[in-house]
Amino acid sequence: MIGSGRGIINEAGKYFDLDRRVMVVTDSGVPEDYAATVVRQSSSGHLHVIPQGEGSKSFPYLERLLSHMLEERFDRHDCVVAVGGGVVGDLAGFAASCYMRGIDFCNVPTTLLSQVDSSIGGKTGIDLCGNKNMVGSFYQPKAVLIDPDTLKTLPAHEMRCGYAEAVKMALTCDSDLFKIFEENGQDSHTDEIITRCLAIKKGVVEKDERESGLRRVLNFGHTIGHGIESVTGLRHGECVALGMIPMCGNDLRKRLVRVLKNLGLETGITCDTDAVYSAILHDKKTDGGLIETVRVDVPGSFRFESVRPGELQELISLIAE
Ligand SMILES: NC(=O)c1ccc[n+]([C@@H]2O[C@H](COP(=O)([O-])OP(=O)(O)OC[C@H]3O[C@@H](n4cnc5c(N)ncnc54)[C@H](O)[C@@H]3O)[C@@H](O)[C@H]2O)c1
Repeated sequence: MIGSGRGIINEAGKYFDLDRRVMVVTDSGVPEDYAATVVRQSSSGHLHVIPQGEGSKSFPYLERLLSHMLEERFDRHDCVVAVGGGVVGDLAGFAASCYMRGIDFCNVPTTLLSQVDSSIGGKTGIDLCGNKNMVGSFYQPKAVLIDPDTLKTLPAHEMRCGYAEAVKMALTCDSDLFKIFEENGQDSHTDEIITRCLAIKKGVVEKDERESGLRRVLNFGHTIGHGIESVTGLRHGECVALGMIPMCGNDLRKRLVRVLKNLGLETGITCDTDAVYSAILHDKKTDGGLIETVRVDVPGSFRFESVRPGELQELISLIAE
């Protein structure tokens, strides 16, 4: 169940059964009030705060969270609620999926990226030895509650990362959504952007939950993006933005660069492109020497294309500064 609306976090108990032990997981960068609002609505709420940042998506923090649940005698009838961005959602969802072989999970995403993308679709997990999302599960939340009011406190650079993922959805699946960005209307249309992205993600995931076909479209920009992410330490959304540029046809590429610049996102890399290339070859999306990519020539449409390593290097060079 997906509920969205301004102020919906204050009514979480109406959408999701909080009358039981509830482990509310948040991170140290999320304003405390959001998690506290959910804890208050529960008959037996517990708060678990992880440090902000990708480093918390790891075995030590997974173990701490599971141990906390055990200490508080959580059983199969209890639940986990994530209140935060993709980091909190991925870790808390994974913990819910493996504690006693799976207990209920609810997600209250509070970053734009998590509201338009990561909270939907059931991918959970942690990183392993610097490799992103290497350990995880597909585990659908019982409820996702999206409150755009929580974005009022989100720093501008995090908003930009969310917009990058929304541009990804627009380019591949929704040309009207891309128009909003081309007309610089994102800040006055945030609710509409969220709604449109949710519809896209839901539609794609319903057709292909396990990413064996259509869902791979959501990896648009991610092959090169993940490579940049592991080399530079830039944020996920910033890297996806960069990774989309080479994957567009020539005309669209110019339009995309204008949109990204307008959003305040980088459109070129100064890091070692060979290192980006090597990182991609270690990525899980490489298959038999060919690397699967998603290409877009016209907004709202896409095609899959497998490229040889040499071609990939050429693509990366398109964003080298
Ligand atoms: N599961 C999926 O399908 C999926 C999809 C895309 C990305 N991801 C994962 O999501 C993660 C990135 O998520 P993210 O971009 O949300 O980053 P994040 O979770 O790290 O949050 C970004 C920062 O914003 C802060 N924050 C969160 N909400 C806030 C608010 N309302 N006000 C002020 N500060 C707030 C956090 O403390 C954090 O410092 C990555 O680990 C990525 O792998 C998962």
